[in-house]
Amino acid sequence: MTPLPKLSVIEMNFDASLNHDGQLVILVSEDGKLDDFGGRLNKLMNGAIDRALASDDFHSLDLGKVLLLSYPAGLKAQGLTIAKLNQNSGVYETRACGVEIAKTVKCKSILILNGEFQKAADLVEGLALRNYDYRDQKTHAKNTDFDLQVMVQSVQEYSDKINEKLAVIDGVFFTRDLINAPANILTTSSFADQLLALSELGIIVEVLDEPELEKLGMRTLLCVGQGSVSPSKVVVMHWNGGGSEAPFAFVGKGVVFDTGGISLKPAAGMEDMTMDMGGAGVVAGAMKALALRKAKANVVGVVGLVENMPSGNATRPGDVIKSMKGDTVEVINTDAEGRLVLADILWYTQERFNPTGMIDLATLTGAIIIGLGHEMAGVFSNSDILSKQFISAATAEGEGAWRMPLGQAYDKQLKSRIADMKNVGGRAASSITAGQFLKRFVKDNTPWAHLDIAGVASIAQESAFSPKGATGWGVRALNRMIADHYEGMEQEPSG
Ligand code: BES
Ligand code: MN
Ligand code: ZN
Repeated sequence: MTPLPKLSVIEMNFDASLNHDGQLVILVSEDGKLDDFGGRLNKLMNGAIDRALASDDFHSLDLGKVLLLSYPAGLKAQGLTIAKLNQNSGVYETRACGVEIAKTVKCKSILILNGEFQKAADLVEGLALRNYDYRDQKTHAKNTDFDLQVMVQSVQEYSDKINEKLAVIDGVFFTRDLINAPANILTTSSFADQLLALSELGIIVEVLDEPELEKLGMRTLLCVGQGSVSPSKVVVMHWNGGGSEAPFAFVGKGVVFDTGGISLKPAAGMEDMTMDMGGAGVVAGAMKALALRKAKANVVGVVGLVENMPSGNATRPGDVIKSMKGDTVEVINTDAEGRLVLADILWYTQERFNPTGMIDLATLTGAIIIGLGHEMAGVFSNSDILSKQFISAATAEGEGAWRMPLGQAYDKQLKSRIADMKNVGGRAASSITAGQFLKRFVKDNTPWAHLDIAGVASIAQESAFSPKGATGWGVRALNRMIADHYEGMEQEPSG
């Protein structure tokens, strides 16, 4: 597991900052005025900070960017980072500044002299989010331990907020580690084991194995995994932090590897399909975040873990499969497997929990990458309220999400000659027909949103908040949506 920074939030203490031998970070607004601490450091450094602040380097620096002074005379520190931030800088700018600090500071011990800057938690969030490196498969991995001290005017005022951010980032890192893991390491069984370990945090975890899934009639899910030697599993995670109300549900596609099955994918780039469990990975990370910050909400996470492999036992194109709901599906293309997995777990989740709302996440279609690229996930929903709740939460967290259409007119593309539907609708609007397919397994009265995260779950270039590879997109948005709209839902007893 990639470690989180070892965080301490401490009172302002000048001597401690003088004795810090890692990187010191001071925040300076664009007027270039130093606060009391900064002034004292500047004196010890013979006015070097003042000269930096008077320079063009500082004047031409955008807000949220940083200037580095190495091995400052007069201090023990390895370096001093001047972060250009105003007292009234916004959340986005502040978070981005944290990211800049993470990108420019190589030293693994950082002391931020935050003082009275209000958005310390957002600064720490950006820094911690960007300071991630997946090294589990490197033999000679460097030590990634990372100390972060934040000096603040009042520990009491800042500590909880900063620690809550770190709890959520713990969830993000869990998701990234899962998504980055190769498929021979993260099998359906080892994935389920990692989810079972969440019970330490108070999450109740159930693992449903093949005989049970067979009994429940989850044939569309099982037919995806039947060509693999890894057993298919459904894992149900309950976080009961609320009262007696019905839970909100997260549902995730967990294809640990997608070869395409008998409709085999081309070799080039197939290795990327280790990330096809991204939906399940985000659900797992979001559950972890909720548990770590002890969210006052009931949330259930349901993930379908399967491996899509070709074999003598694999599902064939043309096979007709009966779903748990009872509808039959003609499998035209075994590479459109995610929707087969989701069909059964969406239905199961509603039958068992009657959730107040349901969001599924899936690396579902290549077409969503054509439509939205790697900046935004596609949001398909039967509810204006729920999609707004989610998109505003995502926007606040800087995670891109864009509403896409659904519509009955697209249904004709899913008509099958011999079964109730087929699993693909052709090239045109294929992200939408995938959504229409899922919608058939959603009850009319369940507020539901489907997030197609194929473009955002794992990317080849670094994103605003993460290095190359798994991003953890969605964990923070889901967490915020629960915090903003689904906590403290229990009715006050009347009378
Ligand atoms: N897992 C893929 C979608 C995908 C593509 C995710 C690229 C991430 C990056 C999915 O199972 C798939 O194969 N979809 C097909 C559907 C088609 C056969 C209708 C696709 O998008 O090509
Ligand atoms: Mn596929
Ligand atoms: Zn897939």
